[in-house]
Amino acid sequence: MEERPRCKTGIEELDVDLRGGLPVGSTVLLAGASGVGKTTTCMQFLTNGIKLGEKGVFFTSSETIAKLMEHLEGYYFFDENLIKSGKLSIIDLWSISDRLGLNPIRYSAEEVNVLFEVIIDISKELNAKRLVIDSITSLCYRLQTKEMVRDFIFKIGASLAAMQCTTILTSEIPPRVFQYSQYDVEEFIADGIIFLEDIERKGDLIRTFQLIKMRGTSHGRTKFAMSLSSEKGVELAPMLKSNV
Ligand SMILES: Nc1ncnc2c1ncn2[C@@H]1O[C@H](COP(=O)(O)OP(=O)(O)OP(=O)(O)O)[C@@H](O)[C@H]1O
Ligand SMILES: [Mg+2]
Repeated sequence: MEERPRCKTGIEELDVDLRGGLPVGSTVLLAGASGVGKTTTCMQFLTNGIKLGEKGVFFTSSETIAKLMEHLEGYYFFDENLIKSGKLSIIDLWSISDRLGLNPIRYSAEEVNVLFEVIIDISKELNAKRLVIDSITSLCYRLQTKEMVRDFIFKIGASLAAMQCTTILTSEIPPRVFQYSQYDVEEFIADGIIFLEDIERKGDLIRTFQLIKMRGTSHGRTKFAMSLSSEKGVELAPMLKSNV
């Protein structure tokens, strides 16, 4: 069987676990509680792509662009020139929604469709090969039923796959619970799931990172300890067995 082309995340241990990277065109749910490192991981995924000549687009619905830029400034992988040069686009989903005159509380089926089409049009226009929606949870608050959530994620995933664009959707979940999403449907539509967690050991919180599923490839499911630093960004290391 011919191997599917891979989208190298640039996070070394994850690429090894994935046998080279995410299958191109897949949609991955990056799930975790507040502060576990979802946004940072996504940005590093996008900026690593730029090094490989792949344009990235980041739709934010959980932080303003101003705050996001401020938070990213400390990290080595982030440089405002990436935005000025058009290689990285950061787009405020709520500004688009407001400009389109969509209901700020609940979207009708027609409004969801308008937003979907705008996201796809922007991605096509930018020729994005990597896309992030941070977070799919806050976007889905505006959808009215589980069916609408399911349908939206399915359509976004299918359209971006057709463009060979690999996508990460962040999923906000409460701390210390074993679940991947708010609506219990997101993980079934997504091709892959990465789960970030804070685990407590002797009073300290340890960040963990684990690939749970990835359709279309064999893969490891190692639970890694994850560290964040300005100089190295996201780094993974195998957990000491006593910590697992
Ligand atoms: N320059 C830095 N170096 C190392 N760690 C940092 C740095 N800046 C922030 N952090 C850590 O990263 C955490 C935030 O990470 P991030 O924003 O990626 O998490 P998140 O999962 O997206 O959170 P949220 O659910 O609130 O959106 C902070 O709480 C802090 O612990
Ligand atoms: Mg975040």
